[in-house]
Formats: sequence, C-alpha cells, structure tokens
Amino acid sequence: MSKQKKLVVLTGAGMSVESGLATFRGAGGLWGEHRVEDVATPEAWYRDAKLVLDFYNYRRKELLSVKPNAGHIALAELEKDFNVQIITQNVDDLHERAGSTQVLHLHGELMKVRSTGPGEQVYDLTENNYETHLGDKCPYGYQLRPHIVWFGEAVPEMENAISLVEQADIFLIIGTSMQVYPAAGLIHYVKKDVPIYLIDPNEVGVHGRGIHVIKKGAGEGMKEFSKLVRQG
Ligand code: OAD
Repeated sequence: MSKQKKLVVLTGAGMSVESGLATFRGAGGLWGEHRVEDVATPEAWYRDAKLVLDFYNYRRKELLSVKPNAGHIALAELEKDFNVQIITQNVDDLHERAGSTQVLHLHGELMKVRSTGPGEQVYDLTENNYETHLGDKCPYGYQLRPHIVWFGEAVPEMENAISLVEQADIFLIIGTSMQVYPAAGLIHYVKKDVPIYLIDPNEVGVHGRGIHVIKKGAGEGMKEFSKLVRQG
C-alpha cells in the first residue's frame, strides 16, 4: 500500500463563518462595544479579569450553539485518502466535532482553562460546566484563566506547527487573512515544489510563488478542493 500524502491545512476564523461564528477583522468582529483585541490581552486580564472571563463565557455559550459546517466535514472526510494535519488559529472545537483527528491549536482552545499558577495545568470544560468565574481555582489554589494565547503572548505550539508545515506534501490555507504573526509566517516553511492552495471568498494578501486560489467560502471551496486533490 502506498504511503498517504501529508496534507497540512492552516485554518482561520473564515473556516467557521458558515457555522455562524464571526471573523475577527470582518464586520461583526466586536463583542458588545469592545474590540476583541481589547479583551484578549494580558493587560485586559490584569485590568479587569471579570470582563475577560465573561467574554470567554459568552464565546463558549455561542460555540455550544453552533455545529461544524460542510467545510469542516469535507476536511475530516479527506482523512480517508490523505494524512491530514490541521493547524488552526481557531479556538473553537469544530474541526474535532466534524471528526478530524489531528488538530493543532496554535492560539489555544475555548473549551479548556489553565491554572495561573507555576504549573500552568490545563483542565477541560464540559457542555454542562463551561463557565469560569473569579474565585474558580485549580486544585493548587490558583485562579483559572482561559487557555487562550492572547495578543502579545508567546505561541508555544509554533515549533510543532513549523515542523508539520516542513513535512507537507500539499499545503492548504482556509479562511485566514494571514495578517497575524507568527501564524501567517508558516507559509514560508512550505518546501519548494509543494503545491499551495488557498480557499477564501475575498482577496488575501499572500504573495510569493504560485498559489492556487479557490475564491469561494469554506464549504463550496472544500468541495472543489477535494475533487481536485483526489484526482491527484
Ligand atoms: P480574520 O478575521 O483576520 O480573517 C478571516 C478570513 O476569513 C478573511 O480572509 C475572510 O475573507 C475569510 N472568510 C470570510 N468568510 C469566509 C467563508 N465563508 N469561508 C472561508 N473564508 C471566509 O481571521 P484570522 O486570520 O483567523 O488570534 O485571524 C487570525 C488571528 O487573529 C485569530 O486567531 C485571532 C485573531 O486576532 C488570537 O486570538 C490570538
């Protein structure tokens, strides 16, 4: 049996738009009167931890009310034919719920919390117990915080992501404006001669060598990509 090709996929907020979740930079990238960038920072946490916790409680509630879309499902189905490795900037769990088994979360996960103590232990939240409040502590007595990489924080999974991109036989980008670093820099680690595809209904400012652009939303775009890539 021939070895499956490694399809490495970088996804962003656009992947989840057709599920009903807003992007960051499009219209609707606001929470009440707050810019997301103003609540997703260490400074916001020190200034007003309750506001930050409320923001993530709200986002989890929203996440629990939506489902994976056709794009998530098509990506999961490609595991039959390819070794699919997803690197997502999204903190939702829609790839996993669609059935994808290899998902690396670059910017953290909404359904997890982390101790602010030295051990930084990570704990799972559940559908029935998804809120965190001031005073909710880890077993060692430290306040719990969202398990999210905030603006200005290091991206601990970056090394792992780079190594995956370097191993890609095919690289696919879906629904990201490629404006946030270091994630946007991952494209520079794709080996020469490896085909790069991009699915996005809008113009995305990625330049460089030939990129096969599929100018569609995630669902329709994935339909087209799956057909193309299965033809080999
Ligand atoms: P952006 O909001 O910057 O970009 C979303 C992209 O999705 C845009 O290029 C849109 O054109 C595209 N899009 C819109 N509708 C779509 C659809 N139906 N199907 C496919 N694509 C669609 O979001 P990201 O690039 O993911 O970071 O943002 C990157 C990071 O910035 C986020 O992970 C977050 C944010 O601030 C942190 O929270 C650390």
